[in-house]
Amino acid sequence: MAKIWVINGPNLNLLGEREPQHYGRRSLADIARALRAKAAAAGCELEDFQSNAEHELVERVQAAGRAGVDFIILNPAAFTHTSVALRDALSAVGIPFIEVHLSNIHARESFRRHSYFSDIARGVISGLGPQVYELALAAALHAVENEQA
Ligand code: DQA
Repeated sequence: MAKIWVINGPNLNLLGEREPQHYGRRSLADIARALRAKAAAAGCELEDFQSNAEHELVERVQAAGRAGVDFIILNPAAFTHTSVALRDALSAVGIPFIEVHLSNIHARESFRRHSYFSDIARGVISGLGPQVYELALAAALHAVENEQA
């Protein structure tokens, strides 16, 4: 059974209450529940993880490598714009991933326009609210169905 991991960075535990004009009103638990159901219906295993700590995210990516994860959906949150360590972890494991952002990072402050992940991501989805996770899951399911040996 294909494995897809969803990894979320700092402050995304506050989704639903945090700056709803940027991030919408759905909680992360609610988004994750819907993703798990969709993945299960497609015969895939989906695990979600959130941390506010950079080292825990790095360790989770390394764990994905050991667990034979097929695809990662990643919202690095503020670490998008700062974390060489998390980028290096993704390069190290070599698992294809889609970078997602609820807000359109190109329509906000200039410091959000640079991502340490976009050039090594399979794709980037930004600015559609919680729907970005569902679109990324559809793409990940398509990839694992078509790319698995
Ligand atoms: C975010 C955008 C980042 O710039 C910000 O730091 C976040 C969330 C998004 O999902 O829109 O925390 O990744």
